[in-house]
Amino acid sequence: MSDPHTYDVVVIGSGAAGLTTALGLADRFRVVVLSKGGVSDGSTAWAQGGIAAVLEPGDTILSHVEDTMIAGGGLNDIATVTYVAEHAASAIDRLADIGVPFNVGEGVGDGGGSDAGVDGSGASAAGRFHLTREGGHSHRRIAHVDDATGWAVQDALAKAAAAHPNITLATGHAVVDLITERHVETARFVNRACHGVYAFDTASDRVERFTGRAVVLATGGASRVYLFSTNPDGSTGDGIAMAWRAGCRVSNMEFNQFHPTCLYHPKVKNFLITEAMRGEGGHLLLPSGERFMTRYDDRMELAPRDVVARAIDAEIKRLGLSHVRLDMTHLGAAFIVHHFPMIHARLLELGIDCTTQPIPVVPAAHYTCGGVLVDIAGRTDLPGLYAVGEVSQSGLHGANRLASNSILECLVFGVAVADDIAARWDALPEPPPTRPWDESRVTDSDEEVVVSHNWAELRRFMWDYVGIVRTNKRLERAAHRIKNLRKEVHEYYSDFRVTPDLIELRNLVQVADLIVRSARRRHESRGLHYSLDYPQTDAVPRDTILDPWTRD
Ligand code: FAD
Ligand code: SIN
Repeated sequence: MSDPHTYDVVVIGSGAAGLTTALGLADRFRVVVLSKGGVSDGSTAWAQGGIAAVLEPGDTILSHVEDTMIAGGGLNDIATVTYVAEHAASAIDRLADIGVPFNVGEGVGDGGGSDAGVDGSGASAAGRFHLTREGGHSHRRIAHVDDATGWAVQDALAKAAAAHPNITLATGHAVVDLITERHVETARFVNRACHGVYAFDTASDRVERFTGRAVVLATGGASRVYLFSTNPDGSTGDGIAMAWRAGCRVSNMEFNQFHPTCLYHPKVKNFLITEAMRGEGGHLLLPSGERFMTRYDDRMELAPRDVVARAIDAEIKRLGLSHVRLDMTHLGAAFIVHHFPMIHARLLELGIDCTTQPIPVVPAAHYTCGGVLVDIAGRTDLPGLYAVGEVSQSGLHGANRLASNSILECLVFGVAVADDIAARWDALPEPPPTRPWDESRVTDSDEEVVVSHNWAELRRFMWDYVGIVRTNKRLERAAHRIKNLRKEVHEYYSDFRVTPDLIELRNLVQVADLIVRSARRRHESRGLHYSLDYPQTDAVPRDTILDPWTRD
């Protein structure tokens, strides 16, 4: 029976959110960062387009706030949106300081418009960088590293964290559940609080305890609950499910963002074709060559994602297509290769030359706008537990996230969480003695097929019944299936030793339930939640908040 690994702060997740938080804490505290895979296995490393910030003289914070609120269907919290927009330029500065090689001003007359900041001077980020454009933004506002921004950000953060003596990176540790007052050895009369985590170590096949005065969920989103997704395998909503089980409210889970342009390919299912391609002038075409967005929105291909994804979905269904096409060829080979080197090279490997042929694309699940409800300092309902990044619902995104606001949220809230933990340090209790993981009543599974079968079934019906366009009937069908799955997975979890796949499936089923329950509560269409039974938008926007203490 091993002792817990005790640190000052336990961070779960090593993407932009987790590593920013850890780096914000590490000069003052000893931090462990747990990650279920390798350090760079989360969505952050896959980000393409870039990071939104007001960085050129013609742009304003107010405009960034307005664009975010318009994309978000007015459901956003304006104080949070303003806070994030105001802190965006300094977040970019910090990344540049640790070595993220943002593209610098270069003039974008080669197809890109005239409003890029190119003055090349100044100590702040403003005016220094080449800025690209994405849907829903009324200005060029996206700082980027070619078309592989996420990798550059992840790499720089991971190197900075690895070099810091106060940060321990513990990869291959899949957190199973949070340690709360229920797991304290003398569990009578103790206050509600989070004291650490139980984590499955894939090297030893054992569940270990990590404890600290504060725990930070930075576990990313849940888009792998859908059959087709742009996300890496690990986006299984673990943090949302764990927080829910520990008694935290979750909010706005019905708002699942479908990115309009995922590559349509028989073998490669989750390769994103960045929105910046439309930002720089790409056209969406039907097989006939018609530029169909003319029939849907004045902003054409640069309408917010919910609008473009719905338009593609409608055309695919209307004409019985498998995909539509994104045409860049009119922009010229030199421009395409210069601005999108990674995508160009990857497509060539797959036999598609995007300088001479349109790219086949379909919408795919991309981003979880809802999540664990947090305040402006990233605090959840449970004392000592914080949530940051895609796992959280901070009020930034509302009913539909504006492009390139996500990594930004990780960077700004990562600092806010670190500052709040430092400010409240003396009030956070030392972790009390807690009980080790109990395996006395479980055995090794004799039927792994239960996990793989349920996993496949869940993703399929979530795609078919809880996708871009919803109806009461489809949601009811999904709810019925989830009820059965929950029972089966719960029995399996109670009887058998945990494995990484079982941990993820249990969380996916929980998250699917939260999505469907939230969707069934919203009797209107807003942002990413579009219902044929309730096509109207209510006058007053309201968050959907589910509370585990009032189960209904
Ligand atoms: P992640 O980066 O996903 O990291 C989650 C971490 O949690 C991982 O380390 C994972 O291993 C760990 N974890 C999860 N569960 C557990 C567990 N149970 N135990 C231990 N560890 C766990 N956003 C933008 O702003 N701009 C873009 O250009 C952009 N492009 C994108 C392109 C793609 C293809 C994708 C998929 C997303 C893109 N996004 C973009 C969205 C953005 O990348 C993510 O929302 C953001 O990076 C999430 O960061 P995060 O730190 O919250 O989570
Ligand atoms: C993209 O590059 O299209 C993704 C941007 C984002 O998800 O914000």
